[in-house]
Amino acid sequence: MLRGEKVTLRAVARGDLPRLREFANDLEVELAGGGDPPAPRPLERIEKDFEREVSDLPRDKTNFAIEADGECIGTGGLFNIDWTARHAELGIGIGDKEYWGRGYGREAVGLLLDYAFRLRNLRRVWLEVHSANERAIRAYGSCGFVEEGRMRGHVWLGGRYVDNVIMGLLREEWGGP
Ligand SMILES: CC(C)(COP(=O)(O)OP(=O)(O)OC[C@H]1O[C@@H](n2cnc3c(N)ncnc32)[C@H](O)[C@@H]1OP(=O)(O)O)[C@@H](O)C(=O)NCCC(=O)NCCS
Repeated sequence: MLRGEKVTLRAVARGDLPRLREFANDLEVELAGGGDPPAPRPLERIEKDFEREVSDLPRDKTNFAIEADGECIGTGGLFNIDWTARHAELGIGIGDKEYWGRGYGREAVGLLLDYAFRLRNLRRVWLEVHSANERAIRAYGSCGFVEEGRMRGHVWLGGRYVDNVIMGLLREEWGGP
């Protein structure tokens, strides 16, 4: 649906679920993502979430599969969309580690911003990232996000506390896709 040079963002398909299960059970990917504490996720759980979203399309989120070289390499989207204040939280996870650090994330985030600002008429996009995830912070920074705040020692990351960094981008600051 949204095409860049390296990645396409499209609907998650049932055929992606085994790959998504692999990513959801990869400890390195899970720890990079922060969020919920790592826990084993059976395919059935991932299928249930998929069925629920397919049968009852949520208004406050839009999720995409990130496709590269004909395969699903992760997911990304907008959630907690507030249609009154017109802001949304951005989330992304490239689960296929072969694709880390090669510009795929930056391009996918750029496509999500174009989707948010131009196609959905949002005015602010924000996100949370833990301070040890330098790769993500650099990728977000190169898309225009700035640090807006820091919750000190907020995240327990496999044996130590790290900060939770809040980053945001306003439409008028955005340079385009
Ligand atoms: C975060 C993520 C989307 C970034 O996408 P990506 O394709 O890996 O990143 P990009 O190649 O577009 O950009 C990475 C930037 O960090 C730099 N970088 C790469 N590896 C790095 C590392 N190990 N440490 C610090 N910086 C690193 C790159 O040089 C690049 O910066 P530059 O453009 O200034 O040169 C992706 O790595 C990912 O999904 N990781 C797993 C889950 C996750 O972290 N999700 C985000 C949770 S908030």
